Amino acid sequence: MASYTEGQHLAAMLLSKGGPLTLCHRPTPTPGPNELLIAVHAVAFNPVDGYQRNFGLFISSYPAILGSDVAGVVLSAGSAVAASAPPPGTRVTAFAAAFFEQGNPDYGALQTRVIVPVENVAPIPDAVSFQDAAMLPMAVSTAWAGWYTIGLPRDTKYTAADKKGVLVWGGAGSVGSVAVQIAARLFGFVVYATASEKNHAYVKSLGASRVFDYKNAGVVEEIVKAAKEDGLSIDVAYHATPQNFKETLDVVKTLKFVETGKVAMAAPMDENSPKVEGVEAKFVLNPEGLEARKEQFRFVYNDWLKEKLVSGDLVPSPKARVVEGGLGSANKALDELMKGGISSEKLLVET
Ligand SMILES: NC(=O)c1ccc[n+]([C@@H]2O[C@H](COP(=O)([O-])OP(=O)(O)OC[C@H]3O[C@@H](n4cnc5c(N)ncnc54)[C@H](OP(=O)(O)O)[C@@H]3O)[C@@H](O)[C@H]2O)c1
Repeated sequence: MASYTEGQHLAAMLLSKGGPLTLCHRPTPTPGPNELLIAVHAVAFNPVDGYQRNFGLFISSYPAILGSDVAGVVLSAGSAVAASAPPPGTRVTAFAAAFFEQGNPDYGALQTRVIVPVENVAPIPDAVSFQDAAMLPMAVSTAWAGWYTIGLPRDTKYTAADKKGVLVWGGAGSVGSVAVQIAARLFGFVVYATASEKNHAYVKSLGASRVFDYKNAGVVEEIVKAAKEDGLSIDVAYHATPQNFKETLDVVKTLKFVETGKVAMAAPMDENSPKVEGVEAKFVLNPEGLEARKEQFRFVYNDWLKEKLVSGDLVPSPKARVVEGGLGSANKALDELMKGGISSEKLLVET
């Protein structure tokens, strides 16, 4: 797309609450001391983008630019960026700070040039496409935030002999598929997951040992029976679907060996969220406070994601689906996402 004129670039701007996003040219910003300027090649969509566009969530003023997930190439670095950071010319994936920055146009993903904090960036190997890389930032940080929220240390390491199980409800989704991979390949849990039947083989390929169809009325009993056959305790779980269901808590209540089981809930919670005695359900949040969050992101992106994409221990998931038409199709992609029913796919636009 012929998007770049001297000092300007193309952006899908949110001019007022409710949208739609409108294509405009805007001045290309200069990165601050600890920031990188990225030439964006692909942007992936997340539910929060739809809430921002439609309801003004996490937006302090207009015009705003939305979007968290980008892949592209580093163009320039701020004055205090360490020499160890990806230099200009490096292919990267990055977590754009659209909602932390409350819609500040310099920081939203849906444009051809975006500023990102250096701790939110991971270089990507040549073998990983921009499309696959763009699916990762939000999913990876949310998966890690979930495990952090329920108190699992980063160095959790079980072996098969420990008989430690974990349940991921929604294992074929964007967040759930990364949560499965971390739980199985890094933490060494025996992973049980739920998914639509057509996604079972896929979720197993990510490391789940058993996958259950959440559409079966007796799914909780099926999971409990299987865990008893396998001799597992399930003290913790990750619930990663658009609504919070009681079933995940029921499984943990029945199979936990600890006094209080713990469930990370990805979707927002309120007073009507499910409650079960003996199980604590907590909304997934990154560590509180700027410095703690930066430390978490340095670990997640600068270290962990960088290393695991090279080693192949993290496979980009679920499956990228490009909505044709570039940034001009951002509204169409968001409309489709907000309608629901996307299964084991992540919608993207290319710029
Ligand atoms: N707390 C945070 O910081 C944070 C960050 C990011 C996302 N989130 C939230 O996390 C949730 C998941 O996001 P995502 O991007 O991973 O979504 P996603 O990619 O659409 O995945 C959701 C998965 O949920 C499953 N599912 C859908 N309806 C279900 C139902 N009725 N019962 C059981 N499973 C069902 C689907 O499984 P099948 O395809 O197998 O049917 C789907 O793969 C959203 O609510 C999102 O807003 C929170």
